[in-house]
This record gives sequence, C-alpha cells and structure tokens, in this order.
Amino acid sequence: MLDNINFEYYDSVDSTNDRIKERAHAGEKQGLVISAGTQTAGKGRIGRKWESPKHDSIATSMLLTPQEISLEAVPTITVVAAMAVRDALSRLYGLEGKIKWPNDIVLDGKKICGILTEMEMKDGAVWFVVVGIGVNVHNKSFDEEIAYKATSVDLELIKENRIGETGHRAELTKAIWESFKRYYNIFIKTQDMSGLKEEYERNLANFGERVRIEAQENSYEAIAKGITAKGELIVEVDKKEQIIRTGEVSVRGIYGYV
Ligand code: ATP
Ligand code: BTN
Repeated sequence: MLDNINFEYYDSVDSTNDRIKERAHAGEKQGLVISAGTQTAGKGRIGRKWESPKHDSIATSMLLTPQEISLEAVPTITVVAAMAVRDALSRLYGLEGKIKWPNDIVLDGKKICGILTEMEMKDGAVWFVVVGIGVNVHNKSFDEEIAYKATSVDLELIKENRIGETGHRAELTKAIWESFKRYYNIFIKTQDMSGLKEEYERNLANFGERVRIEAQENSYEAIAKGITAKGELIVEVDKKEQIIRTGEVSVRGIYGYV
C-alpha cells in the first residue's frame, strides 16, 4: 500500500527519475516525490529525449518500493499512472484526455503527458520502481519536431476560451499523485488491472478502431480491442487476436499520431 507522499521541489535537475534513483540507493522510503522546474536531461522511452522547458511543464517522479511485486507487474504501473494523470486533468480542469497505450495522455489528438517507469533489481527481485511523469502545462509552442503532436493545458484551455484557468503546477502535481495513490492501491491488491480495466478501456484512444503498430523491424495495421489484466494491448490482425507488450513498439492512429 502507498500511504504517505512527501514532496520535494528543485528549480533544475538533470532528470527527476535519476534523482529518485539516487535517493533510492541511499535508502529512501516509498512515497518520495521529486519535482523540478526544468530538466536538463529529461528522458523519454527507448532513449528518447523529453523536453521540459523552464517553468512551463511538470517533471515529477515518485519512488515506489513495492514489497513482493513481481517483475512482470512492473510495466503495468505505467498504465496505472496514465489513468491517474487523466483523472487529475479531468478533476481539475474538466479536460477529458484519452490514454494512448501505454504511456501517453492525448487531448484533441496531441500529447499532453508522457510517463517513464524505470526499475532496479536486487538479489533477483524488484528493489525499487521510479514512476516519472511529464505534463505540458503552460507551454504556448513547441520545438518544430514535436509541434504537430504536442499540446499543453494552457493551449487546450485557450481553445475553450478559458484563458488563465490553468492555476499552479504544484496544484496539478499534487492532484496527479493523489489520483495515483488511489489507482495504485487498487492495482497493488491484485498486482494487475482487474479492478481498473473497465475504466482504462473507457478512456483508451482508438478503442475499437484501426491502429498502426510500429515495431522495430516491421509495421502493420490492426484493430485495438482493449487491454489484458496485465495491461498489455489486445489487437486483432486478420481476425486473430494478438497481445502487444509494453516494449519497443509504438501504436499510432492510421492517419497520424493518434
Ligand atoms: P510512442 O510511445 O507511441 O512511441 P511517442 O513518439 O510520443 O509515442 P514516446 O517515447 O512515448 O514516443 O515519447 C518520447 C517522444 O515524445 C520524443 O521522442 C519526442 O518526440 C516527444 N516529446 C518530447 N518532449 C515532449 C513534450 N514536452 N511534449 C510532447 N511530446 C514530447
Ligand atoms: C515518454 O513519453 O516517452 C515519456 C516521457 C517521460 C518524461 C518524464 S518527466 C519526469 C521524468 N523524468 C524524466 O527524465 N522523464 C520522466
């Protein structure tokens, strides 16, 4: 069970995930959250870069030291965190994002949040897990390479003529981790998505629709059918079901990012 959450904030760090790892090595307890005004080496999945411009975005990571969590349940924590961010954006701003499996929240077809879960093992068991969340909050524009697929809370509220309603990043950060605690404690009882699957699928981008699966060696079209209890994506290809594990694949809409 996740009980207490302790928040620390720094103006600038390399990566909040790396700061949490350092503290875990020093024996820190579960529930520490490190957030930063900006990151100089923000990381995305598969060695990609994550942009978190100064004071425009949220970069926040939590330390989990789950007792007896199985290795195969760890990737599911990303899926749980995505639900938490979606829930916080809905509660605070009425912004109803979709989850682009496994780790992105999208609004109006663009990415507002990315999640990177990392872990370390000791003596053949999971030692600790770091859940890192990046949310674009006050960004008004993005670098050329990501502009077509990135959005922020400010940009989405501007579309609804709700300029100035975004509030402080600290408030959203707190709301995200409060939501995370609720979803995580449901997940940890069974170590799977059985208690959360229905809500997740309600909010899954491209649910029941055609998607493109981009693996390293090939790319093909499929229909997204939902998730398994482990949080893997179920797709249908040529009338046969296939399971996609969180790994080195990307799921895209057939006409663009979502
Ligand atoms: P997928 O998970 O389907 O591969 P993705 O292209 O978004 O989708 P991720 O690994 O989830 O890939 O995210 C990392 C990518 O996110 C980076 O390669 C970059 O294109 C993009 N990116 C970096 N910073 C931001 C940001 N602040 N907002 C939105 N997107 C960003
Ligand atoms: C992705 O979409 O690929 C994941 C992006 C994850 C970014 C967050 S920001 C806080 C934490 N620290 C990092 O270096 N990365 C994660």
